[in-house]
Amino acid sequence: MKFGHFDDDNREYVITNPATPWPWINYLGNKDFFSLISNTAGGYAFYKDAKFRRLTRYRYNNVPMDSGGRYFYIKDDKTIWSPGWKPCKTKLDQYECRHGMNYTKIKGEKDGVSAEALFFVPLNTHAEVQKLSLTNNTKSSKNLKLFSFTEWALWNAVADMENFQRNFSTGEVEIDGSTLYHKTEYKERRNHFAFYSVNTPIDGYDTDRESFMGLYNGFHEPQVVLEGQAKMSTAHGWSPIASHYIEVDLQPGETKDFIFTLGYVENDEDNKWESKGVINKDKANEIIAKFNTSDKVDAALAELRTYWDDLLSNYTVNTGHEKLDRMVNIWNQYQCMITFCFSRSASFFESGIGRGMGFRDSNQDLIGFVHQIPDRARERIIDIASTQFPDGSCYHQYQPLTKKGNNDIGSGFNDDPMWLILGTTAYIKETGDWSILDEQVPYDNDESLAQPLFHHLTVSFDHVVNNLGPHGLPLIGRADWNDCLNLNCFSRDPNESFQTTENKTEGSKAESLMIAGLFVVYGREYVEVCRKLGKNEEAERAQQHVDNMVRSVKAHGWDGDWFLRAYDFFGNKIGSQENDEGQIFIESNGWCSMAGIGIEDGLVEKALNSVKEKLDCEYGIVLNNPAYTKYYIEYGEISTYPKGYKENAGIFCHNNPWIIIGETILGRGDQAWEYFRKICPAYLEDISELHKTEPYVYAQMIAGKDAFKPGEAKNSWLTGTASWNFYTISQYILGIRPDYDGLIIDPCIPADWRSFEATRKFRGATFKIRVTNPNGVNKGVKRLSIDGEEVEGGNMIPLLPKGHYTVEVELG
Ligand code: GLC
Ligand code: GLC
Repeated sequence: MKFGHFDDDNREYVITNPATPWPWINYLGNKDFFSLISNTAGGYAFYKDAKFRRLTRYRYNNVPMDSGGRYFYIKDDKTIWSPGWKPCKTKLDQYECRHGMNYTKIKGEKDGVSAEALFFVPLNTHAEVQKLSLTNNTKSSKNLKLFSFTEWALWNAVADMENFQRNFSTGEVEIDGSTLYHKTEYKERRNHFAFYSVNTPIDGYDTDRESFMGLYNGFHEPQVVLEGQAKMSTAHGWSPIASHYIEVDLQPGETKDFIFTLGYVENDEDNKWESKGVINKDKANEIIAKFNTSDKVDAALAELRTYWDDLLSNYTVNTGHEKLDRMVNIWNQYQCMITFCFSRSASFFESGIGRGMGFRDSNQDLIGFVHQIPDRARERIIDIASTQFPDGSCYHQYQPLTKKGNNDIGSGFNDDPMWLILGTTAYIKETGDWSILDEQVPYDNDESLAQPLFHHLTVSFDHVVNNLGPHGLPLIGRADWNDCLNLNCFSRDPNESFQTTENKTEGSKAESLMIAGLFVVYGREYVEVCRKLGKNEEAERAQQHVDNMVRSVKAHGWDGDWFLRAYDFFGNKIGSQENDEGQIFIESNGWCSMAGIGIEDGLVEKALNSVKEKLDCEYGIVLNNPAYTKYYIEYGEISTYPKGYKENAGIFCHNNPWIIIGETILGRGDQAWEYFRKICPAYLEDISELHKTEPYVYAQMIAGKDAFKPGEAKNSWLTGTASWNFYTISQYILGIRPDYDGLIIDPCIPADWRSFEATRKFRGATFKIRVTNPNGVNKGVKRLSIDGEEVEGGNMIPLLPKGHYTVEVELG
C-alpha cells in the first residue's frame, strides 16, 4: 500500500494520506539553522545544535504520535481544522504534503477554504519562513479566525525535559506589534533570543501556554481557539509559547498570504539592549524585513531550488530504471547532505540530545557528500581530526556547537581511527587538494599539540599496529563498528550502558576481523598516499604491516567457509561453525572481501556464497545468524536485542553495501544489484504499510528474517546507510570512481542492462558518459574513448582541463 507518490520533476515526495504508518519527515535548512518537519507539520527548530540551542519544543514518543510543531488552527464558524490534518484531525476534503529539497508544502482543504503552507529556511538565514496562503473557493464570503502556534523550548533540550523546579520560573517573553519574542535567560549568560512574527497586523496573541490551551486540553482543542478569542496572555515562567490571532475575511475566489518567520538572533555583549530590560531587536527586524512579502519569499525559495539544482548536478544518471534514477539523482544524495548536517543527532528516532557528531559516523558520511560540497567536507575533516588524541585514539563524538570531543557516548572503539583515512582520501581523490595534509590540526582540540593532518593519518594507522592481539589481529577495544559487540564489558548491571561502562581491556584477547579487513583496505590507501608524497620509507613500513595483517587473517581468521568475526576476551572464536549461535557475521565477511584477502585462493567467493546462503533474506542481508536467543555476558549488547532486531540479526542496512562492494570485486553484477535493490527505499514504496518509514530515504534497520515482523524498518534518515549506498551505486555498481589522477570507469552491472548514461562533474570538467554493454557482461571495460579518441589500455579518464567531454565506454 502506498501513501503518496514521487514527483521527480519537482524532486518531491507527495503524501496524499496524512495517516502515514509513521511520521514521514523532512529537513529544513542546511547550515546553522535547522528544522525537522513531519507530514503533519510536527517537529522542531534549532540553531546549530539540537541539544544546546533548541528553539521549539517537541515531545518524542508521545501519545498521540508526533506531538508538537508549528500549527495553524483555522476556525470557520463552528469547524476548527488544520491544513496538516494534525493536531485537530478534522477530516479534510483534501490533503497533500510535498516534501522537497529542504522545503515542505502542506495543503489542506475544508468546506471550500484551502490553506497551503510552505515551510523552508532560506539560504544563509537564521529563520524558518512559513508562507500560509488561504483561499476562499466558495461563492460566498468567509470570515475565518486564524491562530498560529509554536511552543518554545528553554534552549537546553535536556534541561528542558527534566529541570522543572527551575524551568517553570525562567520563561520570559516580549511582545512588540506582530512579533512575539522568547527571551528566556537573555539577561544573564545568554546573548541569544528567538522570535515568531507575522507580516500583518494581528488581532490578538498569546504567549502563555496554559492560557492558550487550557491546562487539561490537548493540542487539538486549545481553549482560545475553541472560544475564538485570544487571551492576550504574557508568559511569566511556566511554558512560554507564541500564538498570533488574525481575523481573515475572504471574498469568493480571494487568496490572502501570511508570512510567518520563526527566527534566532545573537547579539554582541555591548549591544544587547534597546533600553533597560528591553532587548535589542535590530537583527530580528532585519530578518523579518527580508521576508515580509510573498515576492521576497518566492524569490528566496527559487534561490534554494537553484542551490539544489547545482548540488545535484555533479552526479546524475539515466539508467532507464525510474526508481534507481530517482534515488541516485535526488533522494540518496539529499539524504547524504542531511547526514552531513546532523551525523546521528536529530531525527524522529534520534532525539537530538544524546549523540552529537560521531567520529566514525561523520567520516563515513563524507563519502556520500564530498562531491557536492568539497569545501565543507574539508572543514569537517579538520573538525573531526581535531578531536583525535596524539596516540591515534579518538573521542567517539563531538558537540556541533563547541566542536569539542566528549566521552558522553563512550570511548575506546578501536575502529574509529581508520575511518579518518577513508574520509581524508575520499576528499583528496575528489578534489586533488593535497594541501589538506599539510594543514596544522590540533590533537584533543589543543592548538599547542597541532601537527599536520598527515600526522593524524599516521597515528590512525599506527593505532591499529600498536594494538594487536595474540593472533596478530587488531584488538577490538570497547567495540568496533558494531557498537554492540562488547567483548570487554561483562556487564551484569542493567542500569549501565554498554557504551560507557568500564572497558576491561587488561589481559583481553578480544580481536576483531572486521578491523582487520578495514585495516587492509585503508592501510593500503595510506601506503598509496605515502607513495604519492614520495615518503617511500614510510610506505614500505606501512606495507609490511598490511602484509602481516593479510597473513594473520589467512592464518587465524578463516573458518573454513567464511571469515570469523572475532576472538573474545578469552581467545574463543566468534562467528564460527563452532558456535551455537552467531556462527556467521556480515561485517568481517564484507571487509575481508573488500580487501580481497585470499581472493586468489577462492576465499572471497566462498565467504560471499556463505553470506548469500546464511544471511540473505527477502528484505536484505541480516547482520548475523543464527540470531542470539539468550544473553551472553562475554558478547554484550548484541545479545540483549530480541532476535531479528538491530545488531542481533537485523538487516542493518549500513553494512549491506560492504557485501555489495565485495560482490563487485568478484564481478558478480547480478548479485550486487539484487542486494542493492532489496533495501533501496524507492523499491519498497508499494509495501509502505509494512516498511513503515519513508519510501524516499534509507532507514538504519529493517527487521530481519528471525524477527516477529520481517521487513519493518526503523530509524530512518540519519544512518551511514545513506552514504555507503550512494558510494556503492555510484562508484562500484555504476562504477564511476574518482581517483587521484583521474576518473575510473569500472561498472559492475546486471548482465541484462544494455546501456546507461551518466553525467559527472569532476575537477572542473564535465563528462557525459555513455556505457554500452552489447555482449551482456557484468564487468570489464573493453574500450573507452573521450570525444571520439580511444584511451589506450585503460579505464581511467585522465585529468582534463575545464570543459565538456563525451565519454563512450564499451563493456565486454
Ligand atoms: C549506529 C552507530 C554507528 C555504529 C552502528 C552499529 O548506526 O551510529 O556508529 O557503527 O550503529 O552498531
Ligand atoms: C546502541 C545501538 C547502536 C548504536 C549505539 C550507540 O547500542 O544498538 O546501533 O550505535 O547504541 O548509541
